[in-house]
Amino acid sequence: MLLGDAARAAEAIEGALEGSEAEGKLIASAPMLQNFAEDSIGIAFAVGALANGYVLIGRKKDLSDAIKFWCGGYRLRDISDKVIQVRVTGLKPATTYYYRIGADRISYEGGYKMKILGNEEDPAVYSFRTAGEGTRGSFCVINDTHAKWEAFGKVQDKLSVLAPACVIWNGDASNCEEKIENQMRIFLTPPIARTDYAASTPYLFCPGNHDSRGMANRHLENVWMYRQPEERSPRDWDLGRNFAVRLGKVALIGLDTAEDKMDTNPLFANLFASEPYRKAQTEWLRDALRRKEIAEAPFLVAFCHIPLFDDDPTHNPGDIAPADKDPQYSSDFAYWQRTCASMWGPLLHEAGCQLLVCGHMHRYRYDPATQDRCWAQIVGGGPKMNDQVFPTVIEGKVSGHHLQVTVHNLFTGEVQERFKFSEKKFGNEDEK
Ligand SMILES: [Fe+2]
Ligand SMILES: [Fe+2]
Repeated sequence: MLLGDAARAAEAIEGALEGSEAEGKLIASAPMLQNFAEDSIGIAFAVGALANGYVLIGRKKDLSDAIKFWCGGYRLRDISDKVIQVRVTGLKPATTYYYRIGADRISYEGGYKMKILGNEEDPAVYSFRTAGEGTRGSFCVINDTHAKWEAFGKVQDKLSVLAPACVIWNGDASNCEEKIENQMRIFLTPPIARTDYAASTPYLFCPGNHDSRGMANRHLENVWMYRQPEERSPRDWDLGRNFAVRLGKVALIGLDTAEDKMDTNPLFANLFASEPYRKAQTEWLRDALRRKEIAEAPFLVAFCHIPLFDDDPTHNPGDIAPADKDPQYSSDFAYWQRTCASMWGPLLHEAGCQLLVCGHMHRYRYDPATQDRCWAQIVGGGPKMNDQVFPTVIEGKVSGHHLQVTVHNLFTGEVQERFKFSEKKFGNEDEK
């Protein structure tokens, strides 16, 4: 061996050591499937050191036809020592894909002084099926998990048995998160047995009021990515997580009710802008409901965190200016969202929506449809464990001409209630 070769070999060994054993595992979580859609998917995972990550994805189980998608957009690939986010586009609807995640460990000392120290791939091959008319009409809803791990573990145990085609996480996953590490723990590295809970089950997210609280949550997209800009119109530039997705006979619509206090509340120091956000979503919703595959779906189910209906006159409707205070209401924050209800409710009614699923109240409730409001409302439970307040998994499954909805009580382990909704063309009446 020449002297130069020996020196290079020594450097390579040193590099390999730096890149693997010397610094521990690079990939620090299972992947999470985010923002489920017909022709795209987001795949996020945690890393323990500076990395440039990728996804190998194909239709064959052995990945022999796999295409590599790197994190980041045009011009630059991304580099992060926390979260890798890869948005995979150009997929076929209702199609099963297999994938594996990987990352290069990067040393960056500034300027041109950067190098690849090593590479790591998760040996596991995961799979998922994209949304579309040819995918099972089967979904589950979870909400208000609030980083309460006992409840979240039970939720995931139940979801693993129910095996829905996708899960809608209906807000308040967070409490008040100041650091990205806390957000990573909630979504990517939760301290539960099923750490790969979202590796093969795609997720959709409707943020809750708590999901925008805390400095880190002001940029939740660092952990829960947006869809690509080209997946929405320029008008909807900041609506990165709203969804209108077809799943078999069901059209799923996701909205964000935003904060449960007024933008004008002095508590918020002018740092929140829920009002224009809700209006922007109204325009998005109007267009989404006109899309052929959404308008023609036999079932229309909408999701948002804060309820859009409440018949208790003491419950604050979230539009009490300027600071949410009024002695007639039992709280100085919204129990329901009247502004959203007046903008979105009629659109959902005209479109024949059968069901709206919400959370926020931490107490399970069912509000049947009325003459003026064709959608029934189910409010999911919260993270506490007793017979009054309990976590729920709300399961929706198409069977023939009906959408069967089962509310699972995770405190008792029993079914709390069942509902059956008819296809639009057969009328919207629901029956218990
Ligand atoms: Fe909550
Ligand atoms: Fe909430």
